[in-house]
Amino acid sequence: MGRLDDKVTFITGAGSGIGRAAAIRFAREGSAVAVADIDGDLAAATADMVEEAGGRVLRQTVDVTDETQLKDALQETADQFGGVNTLVNCAGGSIADDRSVTDVDLDVWDHTIDLDLKGTFLACRVAIPHLQTAGGGAIVNFTSVVALKGSFRGHVYTAAKGGIISFTQALAGQYWRDGIRANAIAPGVILSDRVQGRMQLTDDIPLDERLETAMKMNTRLIDERHPFGYGVPDDIANVALFLASDESRMVNGAVIPAEGGAAAY
Ligand SMILES: NC(=O)c1ccc[n+]([C@@H]2O[C@H](COP(=O)([O-])OP(=O)(O)OC[C@H]3O[C@@H](n4cnc5c(N)ncnc54)[C@H](O)[C@@H]3O)[C@@H](O)[C@H]2O)c1
Repeated sequence: MGRLDDKVTFITGAGSGIGRAAAIRFAREGSAVAVADIDGDLAAATADMVEEAGGRVLRQTVDVTDETQLKDALQETADQFGGVNTLVNCAGGSIADDRSVTDVDLDVWDHTIDLDLKGTFLACRVAIPHLQTAGGGAIVNFTSVVALKGSFRGHVYTAAKGGIISFTQALAGQYWRDGIRANAIAPGVILSDRVQGRMQLTDDIPLDERLETAMKMNTRLIDERHPFGYGVPDDIANVALFLASDESRMVNGAVIPAEGGAAAY
């Protein structure tokens, strides 16, 4: 018996990184999965992996900043699988040009706020009616360790991820009436393709070496006192699985730090 038997999960940004890991993990636990990504090729590749893992899957090319595309994708998911129970909002990420407030180009603001904050907002706006129809469900949003401590120099991404915390709490405070729980995960440094690319790391390097290299690069935010603050997408997919499953039925409006304690000490 799987931990997500009979569930249907819509995952944004599922073409890569944490979203891809979640799609495969959730499918292995019995959920049908809609794999939504702005990059149709990446969505298709993840969907193939989900199928290989024995899961029921729908491939979708969706830009989370476009409400109409989201509406169509959620409706297609509901039609195909008979409803939607869970939304996992992975689409997002910081970009290399992000800077402190006095230095950043405002194009970075438009891109990052649109993708991380508005994208999450729109996906919730469109998915919640489906969760209500299903009689309840779970929303898993993505914030970051950068929103839990003021040490990150990318101020636009920090602002977007801070907004997601408040938004998630507001969702929890409103939609408990419909049996919907909303929580957020605040990862540390996760070796997704995007993050590895920035560090010039590839999957063929042994994981221990990759983690060691990552730890040497990021001392301001997560330092040598937080060796558990560095991980791989599966580490975060496991937290998302818990928040999506009924095992976390008492957890609502929470921000789960998965950053090795970096925000605590
Ligand atoms: N990787 C980390 O270290 C880390 C740390 C803290 C928080 N996070 C958060 O976790 C989430 C996932 O991060 P990741 O590193 O796995 O990301 P990733 O870059 O590996 O994957 C993100 C996916 O989102 C897709 N995407 C981009 N724009 C989109 C759009 N407009 N609509 C739909 N899909 C779009 C991309 O094509 C990509 O497949 C993000 O919200 C990120 O901010 C990541």
